[in-house]
Amino acid sequence: MYDLKKVREDFPILSRKVHDRPLVYFDNAATTQKPLCVLDAMREEYLNVNANVHRGVHYLSQQATDLHEAARETVREFLNAKSTTEIVFTRGTTEGLNLVATTFTEAFMEEGDEVIVSAMEHHSNIVPWQIAARRKGIVLKVIPMTDEGTLCVDQLESMITPKTKMISCTHVSNVLGTVNPAKDIVRIGHAHGLPVMIDGAQSAPHFKVDVQDLDCDFYVLSGHKMYGPTGIGVLYGKEEWLDKLPPYQGGGEMIENVSWEKTTFERPPLKFEAGTPDYVATHGLATAIKYMQSLGIDNIEAHERELTEYALKRMREIEGMHIYGHPLSDSIGDAVVSFQVRDIHHMDMGTLLDQLGIAVRTGHHCAQPLMDRLGILGTARASFALYNTKEEIDVLVDGIKRVATMF
Ligand SMILES: Cc1ncc(COP(=O)(O)O)c(C=O)c1O
Repeated sequence: MYDLKKVREDFPILSRKVHDRPLVYFDNAATTQKPLCVLDAMREEYLNVNANVHRGVHYLSQQATDLHEAARETVREFLNAKSTTEIVFTRGTTEGLNLVATTFTEAFMEEGDEVIVSAMEHHSNIVPWQIAARRKGIVLKVIPMTDEGTLCVDQLESMITPKTKMISCTHVSNVLGTVNPAKDIVRIGHAHGLPVMIDGAQSAPHFKVDVQDLDCDFYVLSGHKMYGPTGIGVLYGKEEWLDKLPPYQGGGEMIENVSWEKTTFERPPLKFEAGTPDYVATHGLATAIKYMQSLGIDNIEAHERELTEYALKRMREIEGMHIYGHPLSDSIGDAVVSFQVRDIHHMDMGTLLDQLGIAVRTGHHCAQPLMDRLGILGTARASFALYNTKEEIDVLVDGIKRVATMF
């Protein structure tokens, strides 16, 4: 295990006060804080290296390109992809999902074809398919879930028809913390010749992901949810798929040759990276990954699991507490606890906890169909990261109890 006290010193924001109280930051599923090494690496690049990548013969451009491409290798190794050609830099999970939904639909789907997603998707894995559905008349099918927040993967097989062309499913629910059996979903999809995309926004920050072991065809993540900067993300795609998909946007380094008559495109990953990439952010993301690796991904997972189990135990002691997901018999939950106390509105809960210095998220968490399934409008959500402590959970529990006495 790593030294938590020392780790917290890497994140100066954690020692600030909010409303005159020590900050307790439990909104990590929305975005994580950044360690000094990430900020330093990006500052150093702007201070001493900055130049556009890929295009220059001059020294700075080559140095910036080296850092940018080294970041691609760091991501490749982090995800255990076969090759850096399978690592496309995006602006984040949302852009990765849109890229695949748009290009896949254009190239491989006809009116009446079907995509299967799950009942616990973030809007980012619903809306791109709905936009595609409007354009091409494709049909969205939804893997149901139990009241406890477990996906009914046993029903997936029977949902697949000759018209099904893709399965796109979240790895970990950002509301319930459910860790879905991604490997089983991929296996079932492949048995029917279907490509499978995994939304890794809430898995990559928390446990080891091996895309070759998962055998998924696409996997997407956001840098800002794993201690990296905002505005940078990753689309992993198997080479055979990235080769087959058409370009998403045009311009910049994605071209091979342009004339008025015809343009030819670069091979992946550049084919999908139109315009100047955020090469400082890619370096920042690589630094964040190395930071996580220096602590040990398994140690991060173990620490966050302990925190989640402790939080569940302590929060269940609170009278009138309802926790969504996390069936008692099962330890499938991952670093997220969505809750409701009696009939106290989640916005009131969040606002009053904020007065105590505690940052939680409130609302529908960009998962309105899931809220509909649960029959609610929203929840309060505490989500944990590698730097959180049990003492902070005690502060949260005391805070919730205090709020509860006000109603
Ligand atoms: C499961 C899941 N998918 C997608 C997203 C979208 O991520 P981003 O806003 O970084 O594109 C989120 C963000 O909360 C998420 O939790």
